[in-house]
Parts: sequence; structure tokens; C-alpha cells
Amino acid sequence: MAAPTYDAAFLAVLAEYEARAEREDALIASLPEAQVRQRIDEMLLPVGAAAGQLLNLLVHERQARRILEVGSSYGYSTLWLAEGARAVGGKVISLELQRAKTEYATAQLRRAGLADYVEFRVGDALGSLQALPGPFDLVLIDLWKDLYVPVWELLHPKLAPGALVIADNMTYPESAAAHAQAYRERVQHARGMSSVLLPIGNGLEISRYQ
Ligand SMILES: C[S@@+](CC[C@H](N)C(=O)[O-])C[C@H]1O[C@@H](n2cnc3c(N)ncnc32)[C@H](O)[C@@H]1O
Repeated sequence: MAAPTYDAAFLAVLAEYEARAEREDALIASLPEAQVRQRIDEMLLPVGAAAGQLLNLLVHERQARRILEVGSSYGYSTLWLAEGARAVGGKVISLELQRAKTEYATAQLRRAGLADYVEFRVGDALGSLQALPGPFDLVLIDLWKDLYVPVWELLHPKLAPGALVIADNMTYPESAAAHAQAYRERVQHARGMSSVLLPIGNGLEISRYQ
């Protein structure tokens, strides 16, 4: 598989995200847990560089044109998905609860020359997902962890043949372990799915629909 090459505008925005993530990691490490929880919406909470690159490679390799992201936050993973969408002639629909986060993400994507390849839907992802007909070729699930199973139930009937579903936070943080386990069990026993846990970033469950 040939690695995609990234243009200067993409790399500049990516570097800015990485610098912000590094500052926030230091801040999170310095704060008591209760304060981290209180300030959680200030943070990027990104999938990280290795997971981002893998998502991008999967979009390229699968030629995934109908991409869904559930939990955009400030747009780090969206940037990786959008780069792939542009390369394959596709589009990302990205779901996020907080309008301010999607405004930031939109500005970043514009600077990267990728805003035309993403459509944000602000609101509860469960409601947004109910209104989306699908089918989807590639889906990233990365919202609050108690919603992974409900999201999965709505998503399963909307997967295209050969669709890939990638779920983050399967091995980290520890606080997500019970929800991650519940999600993995559900997906692994779902009709037509094969699934594997990859120790990349925060742990990714990668599942393929037949
Ligand atoms: C871990 S962050 C996503 C990080 C992002 N994928 C990235 O790598 O940059 C989770 C996001 O899910 C959003 N979220 C939580 N519950 C949601 C819901 N019910 N509907 C839509 N978004 C939700 C949060 O606001 C938060 O921004």
C-alpha cells in the first residue's frame, strides 16, 4: 500500500493540532481528575497521529466515498478523514453536539483547503443518525463512550457492503473499559460482521461488514 503524500496546507494545520494536543496533554496531567472532567469540552481529545494516519489510509485504500464521523470534537480526526475524502472523490458527514467545536473545526478545514469535503451536523448524534439514510462505506465512532452501543444499533442497518467501522478508545482510558467491552461484544456478534482489535493509539476496534 503506497502511503499518501500530504500537501503543505494539510501538514501546517496538522502541526498546529499536534502542538495544541501536546499542550493539553501536559495540562490534563497537571490537573486533578475532577477538574479535567469539568473542563473536558475545552480539550481536543484527538484519536492521535497513528490512528489518524490509519483512518486516512483506510479511506484511500477502501476508496470510501460515503464517510461518517460520530464525534468530531475540534476536527482533528475530521482533518484526516477529509484528506482521504478529497483524494477519492468522497465526503465526510461529521456529527457533534457542541456548535463551538464545529466552528473551530470548519475554520481549520478551510485553512487546510478541505472544508468542501465535510458537512457537520450539530446536535445529538443519535437524532442525527436516525435522520441519515446511509449507506456508509467507512465510519469512525468516537463520542462519549456510553453511546457506542446505541450508535451501533442505528448504524448497523445503514452499512454498505464491505463497510469499515472503526471505534476508538477500546483500550484507553481505563474509565471507558466497560463501555468498550460492551461495544466489542455487540459488534463481534452482529450479523455479517468480522472484527479485530488493533493496539494503535487508544485501541481501535476495526470491523468489516460482509
Ligand atoms: C473524544 S471526542 C472526539 C475526538 C475526535 N474524533 C478527534 O479525534 O479529534 C468526543 C466528542 O463527542 C462529542 N459528543 C459526545 N456526546 C455526543 C452526542 N450525543 N452527540 C454528538 N456528539 C457527542 C463530544 O462533544 C466530543 O467533542
